[in-house]
Amino acid sequence: MAFLADSLKRIKPSATIGVTDKARALKAAGRDVIGLGAGEPDFDTPDNIKEAAIRAIREGRASKYTNVDGIAELKAAVARKFKRENGLDYQPSQITIGVGGKHVIYNAMMATLNPGEEVVIPAPYWVSYPDIVMLAGGEPVCIEGPMDRAYKISAEQLDRAITPKTKWLIFNSPSNPTGAAYSRDELKALTDVLVKHPHVHLLSDDMYEHLVYDDFEFYSPAQLEPSLYERTLTLNGVSKAYCMTGWRIGFAGGPEPLIKAIAKIQSQSTTNPAAVSQWAAVEALDGPKDFIPKHNKVFKERRDLCVSMLNQANGIKCPTPEGAFYVYPSCAGTMGKTAPSGKKLANDEDFVTELLEAEGVAVVHGSAFGLGPAFRISYATATTALEEACRRIQRFCGNLKA
Ligand SMILES: Cc1ncc(COP(=O)(O)O)c(C=O)c1O
Repeated sequence: MAFLADSLKRIKPSATIGVTDKARALKAAGRDVIGLGAGEPDFDTPDNIKEAAIRAIREGRASKYTNVDGIAELKAAVARKFKRENGLDYQPSQITIGVGGKHVIYNAMMATLNPGEEVVIPAPYWVSYPDIVMLAGGEPVCIEGPMDRAYKISAEQLDRAITPKTKWLIFNSPSNPTGAAYSRDELKALTDVLVKHPHVHLLSDDMYEHLVYDDFEFYSPAQLEPSLYERTLTLNGVSKAYCMTGWRIGFAGGPEPLIKAIAKIQSQSTTNPAAVSQWAAVEALDGPKDFIPKHNKVFKERRDLCVSMLNQANGIKCPTPEGAFYVYPSCAGTMGKTAPSGKKLANDEDFVTELLEAEGVAVVHGSAFGLGPAFRISYATATTALEEACRRIQRFCGNLKA
């Protein structure tokens, strides 16, 4: 009898964490490596949030277990956030707090999927969606948003992908890994399809809501199409916009029976998210937000720098995304060429491996996100390092032999 569970065979380790670990190991071995793999802001958590956490510790509010799915104060702050920023009304009984957004997605899939039930996932997708679905016993059904449609899916594609077995659509805009964000009209076309299929639930991953550029206006699907409210789980968190990836707080608003089921799973697994992090998240949501536009100004400059420099590299094409802190260039024009090591590039995994070897730049191959040949660059890193990395990519592509 095998010791490890069969379910493990269905999934793979996170490619983005893998690249970050590899870059870290090469750096520790003395190599000059620029890591563009990590999906987290390079800015530190704002001081008012840190101070709120320190106060919570000093005042003894961080020492004990809390309610399994979050303290009342944080649920109230989340309800205010949904109302203020998304025009959505959620009662505290419709809100769950988890150990990061990933945990909430995991719990939601564990709470709802039976073997063979399908989850529609637009590709390129965030690496964890298909694997979480498979761990929970479901079947990911991926539909591709091609580069010439700015990595977005069409209403027709969504309609065709839905079957009687479809339980969820997992939707993510602005997107990790492409940065693509659906406009109001593009989103409405998709919600119109969902209206026609009342058995399909919607998990809207709004994690990058605040990271949008060039006056892009963000809408959450249940806000745009209120008839979907009853079957939507609106997911968000403090990790990205508030520079709090390490604190591990994510949250969602949704139908009460689902929220209760999530709490049941949480009560037999992690119990509450760390109490100190919950108090920090209250301050993040209720406190000043002036740092967000300041960060966005820097992110936008870096996005423009990347897009411009990458489009000057031989064989690379890079669309300009609306949000998040990623660009997703195609490297189709380099396929079949030969790297300095003598290796012929057959796919995007070869491209990123050879780029790391030859130039010490760590990026993640697009096939890990379900659409290649391409790669993802996280530009949430110092501008000087980013500029140097793009220069190295240009040199690498220039040195490839036809
Ligand atoms: C699209 C998307 N959803 C959810 C998450 C999870 O965020 P958290 O760190 O809060 O678990 C991430 C993090 O990379 C993400 O990119």
